[in-house]
Amino acid sequence: MGKTIISILVICAMVIGFGIGVHLYRVSQKNKHEMSKYTSSVKLNAKTGRTLVVYYSLSGHTKAIAEKIARYTKADLYEIKTAEKFELNTAFYLKARHQLYSKQYPKLSGKMPNFSRYNTIFVGGPVWWYAPATPLLSFLEKADFKTRKVVPFSTQGSNYGSFFVDFKRMAKNAKLRPHASFNNIPAQYSKEEENKIIHWINSIH
Ligand SMILES: Cc1cc2nc3c(=O)[nH]c(=O)nc-3n(C[C@H](O)[C@H](O)[C@H](O)COP(=O)(O)O)c2cc1C
Repeated sequence: MGKTIISILVICAMVIGFGIGVHLYRVSQKNKHEMSKYTSSVKLNAKTGRTLVVYYSLSGHTKAIAEKIARYTKADLYEIKTAEKFELNTAFYLKARHQLYSKQYPKLSGKMPNFSRYNTIFVGGPVWWYAPATPLLSFLEKADFKTRKVVPFSTQGSNYGSFFVDFKRMAKNAKLRPHASFNNIPAQYSKEEENKIIHWINSIH
C-alpha cells in the first residue's frame, strides 16, 4: 500500500515537472520570437509633451520599465504605494487573489498626481491573476484622467489576461493610446527590450 502511494506521488511529481518544463520552454520560444522583431536599433522621435509615468511595482520589473520610459520621454515618475507594505511570498498570491475577486483593493498612501499638468500619462503595473495588480486598480478607482492621453503598460511572466480590457473599463476620462506589455525576459534580450520601448513610444501621437 505504502509503495503504491509513493509510486503515485512520484508519477504525479514527474507529470507536474514535465508540464512546468513544457510551459517554460513554450514561454522562452515565444519571447525569442517576439524579441527577434526588435533586433535593429531605432531612433527615438517621441512627441509626448509634458509626460508623467505612473507605476506600481512589487518586485521591480515594472519599475525598471517605467524608469526606461521616463528616461526616453523626459518624464516625471510617480510610484503607486500601498498603505500596508506587501511582502512577496507564497501566501501573498492567495491574498492578492482574494483582493481581486472580492474587489477589496488595498488602500494607497500619498497624494494623487495632478494630471492636468501633463499631456501624456503612462500608467503601468504587474499582472496579478490575469488582471491588473490590485494597487493599480485602487489607483484607477481614484483617478480622473481629465481627457489626457493615457498609455497603459503591463509586465508579466507570460500572460496578461484581461489587463488591458480591465484598464480601459476603469480609466475614467482617458484618451487611450496604444498599450504595450512586457514579459519578464532574460538579460540577453535587454537591447531588444529597449528597442521595443522606443518603437512603442514612437507610435504614440
Ligand atoms: C500575485 C501574483 C500573481 C501573478 N499573476 C500572473 C499572471 O496571471 N500572469 C503572468 O503572466 N504573470 C503573473 N505574475 C507575475 C508578475 O506579473 C510579473 O512577475 C511582474 O513582472 C511583476 O512585476 P513587479 O516586479 O513590478 O512587481 C503574478 C505575480 C504575482 C505576485
